[in-house]
Amino acid sequence: MAGAPRAPILLILFLCIIWTSTVMLMVTATSAESSSSVEENCTMMMKYKDPKQPINIRMKDLMSRMTLAEKIAQMTQIDRASATPEVMRNYSLGSLLSGGGSLPMTNANVEDWVKMVNEFQKGSLSSRLGIPMLYGIDAVHGHNNVYKATIFPHNVGLGVTRDPDLVKRIGAATALEVRATGIPYVFAPCIAVCRDPRWGRCYESYSEDHKIVQQMTEIISGLQGELPTNSTNGVPYVAGKNKVAACAKHFVGDGGTTEGINENNTVIDWHGLLNIHMPAYYNSIIKGVSTIMVSYSSLNGVKMHANYDLVTRFLKDTLKFRGFVISDWAGIDKITTPVKANYTYSVQAGISAGIDMVMVPFNHTEFIDILTGLVNDNVIPMSRIDDAVRRILRVKFTMGLFENPLADLSMVDQVGSQAHRDLAREAVRKSLVLLKNGNNTDSPLLPLPRNPNRILVAGTHANNLGYQCGGWTISWQGLSGNNHTSGTTILNAISTAVDPSTEIIYSENPEADFVKSAKLSYAIVVVGEFPYAETAGDNLNLTIPEPGLSTISNVCESVKCVVILISGRPLVIEPYLSSMDALVAAWLPGSEGQGVADALFGDYGFTGKLARTWFRTVDQLPMNVGDSHYDPLFPFGFGLTTQPVLGSS
Ligand code: GLC
Repeated sequence: MAGAPRAPILLILFLCIIWTSTVMLMVTATSAESSSSVEENCTMMMKYKDPKQPINIRMKDLMSRMTLAEKIAQMTQIDRASATPEVMRNYSLGSLLSGGGSLPMTNANVEDWVKMVNEFQKGSLSSRLGIPMLYGIDAVHGHNNVYKATIFPHNVGLGVTRDPDLVKRIGAATALEVRATGIPYVFAPCIAVCRDPRWGRCYESYSEDHKIVQQMTEIISGLQGELPTNSTNGVPYVAGKNKVAACAKHFVGDGGTTEGINENNTVIDWHGLLNIHMPAYYNSIIKGVSTIMVSYSSLNGVKMHANYDLVTRFLKDTLKFRGFVISDWAGIDKITTPVKANYTYSVQAGISAGIDMVMVPFNHTEFIDILTGLVNDNVIPMSRIDDAVRRILRVKFTMGLFENPLADLSMVDQVGSQAHRDLAREAVRKSLVLLKNGNNTDSPLLPLPRNPNRILVAGTHANNLGYQCGGWTISWQGLSGNNHTSGTTILNAISTAVDPSTEIIYSENPEADFVKSAKLSYAIVVVGEFPYAETAGDNLNLTIPEPGLSTISNVCESVKCVVILISGRPLVIEPYLSSMDALVAAWLPGSEGQGVADALFGDYGFTGKLARTWFRTVDQLPMNVGDSHYDPLFPFGFGLTTQPVLGSS
């Protein structure tokens, strides 16, 4: 339970109540002004509730009122599945989250989300000091947990665009959809610099080149709002109710783990770290990013969740980051091997390293009890607790959470709006990379004729919204099928693009004989990786999963074909390239498949340039632009272009 209030505060409150009652009794016809002045006087007694007070004054006033229990509770984040409004009231926990796929219910609509978040928040507001909780969610390519939200291309495709303004607009659209559901905080952007495509999270990385990742931090300005010019460097900033607090992750070097093994060890010297994995954090802090999430990985054998030198001495003391540092999901548990072998040590190491908020994410009492014991035993100084709580409160006050803790349904129409879907469609177009267009002797195949007699659309990924969205969509690992959310599959987009007179034959995996006999003008083959997230995506051989390779072979050996590859990274393609007439890397385009058809049929030209090196064989990995030994199939920056067909769009 929250600690008993200290006597002076009780006395002040008691006097406040006596005073209010006395005034009310003395003035029989109390005018509006006198009662409001009493109210104001009471608020003046609690400066932290007064929005006219400077934030530092509000923080100081509130912290002076908080018990140790309330301070440690603010450092505690649990998943919504473990929370109740009563827990929020009794403990005054600082934050809740939806982990990947943690929904109010299947196909929850916007109203369901708002209702859920508000119920938890009302619990927090009824706590002794009424500190609002901060609800966070992984909106990493749109509001991807939410049914019928706009699903934007994953970062691996956005990096190809090299368009900071585009990602800023995507950030702004995402913020509107997230706020529509009552949520003010997102665990995005991932600013990992993926240096090995065997890493299961490589699609969450914008590029192997830190300069592109730095450009893409512009999404923070979209999510949080543009930092006012007179802002102090490193101070968090969120521009009100249409914007959300962002989270640059995962600090630091997550994309450099050995052989791309997720949550493993990044071996790199200080120069390499500062040149490759750190620069995007400079940009994020300059843009006022509110929070930074620590990586599961280790740096030269030291767990990042226990890395005082980098989290406190460098990020906080040197870079002057003034927001709060949050752990990853059960991240402190993984400080030890085996996981949670010594939780007391994990809590001590994580908090001492400089973590301010712990994504526990289930057993809040265990975490709170252990941390309380460490403070009472003087193992962790009160100054560390106060630093953490000050940072958390700074974000909450800055973003106006005390003034606007509850959501309404005024933004319902933002979720999956046509304007956002059009923006996503633009992003899909710009994310495509044309790797081959016709064999040397032939004229280019793309843009495709719109009015052929008969075409074949084939492949497991041609008519599967779940596959084209990839991981972190509706569920943590992603899904298969077209009924988990709404959008346009690539097949639907093609059907809309071609002339009504054209006959379209669709088959996931047609037999070669059928293709030979079908008298086709051309074929479009859409194949690739099946959805995955995090460690489930770690892959040492990077081949196109079956039946994709069979489909390519069955189709492309007997008809002109363009292959569209849906993947979170470059895959082994060289052995099959000669059989294809054209090849497009579409990455994980999201819900708006029309963007693929727009380029295929010439409404728009192909413009994308690789933001990742396309290797020949996995034996070459890791291989990145600038390496001394560099022999790719398609180099970083490669991409063929086509011109829009005049009068077609
Ligand atoms: C996950 C991821 C992190 C995410 C967090 C909350 O394990 O590592 O990127 O923000 O948990 O879902």
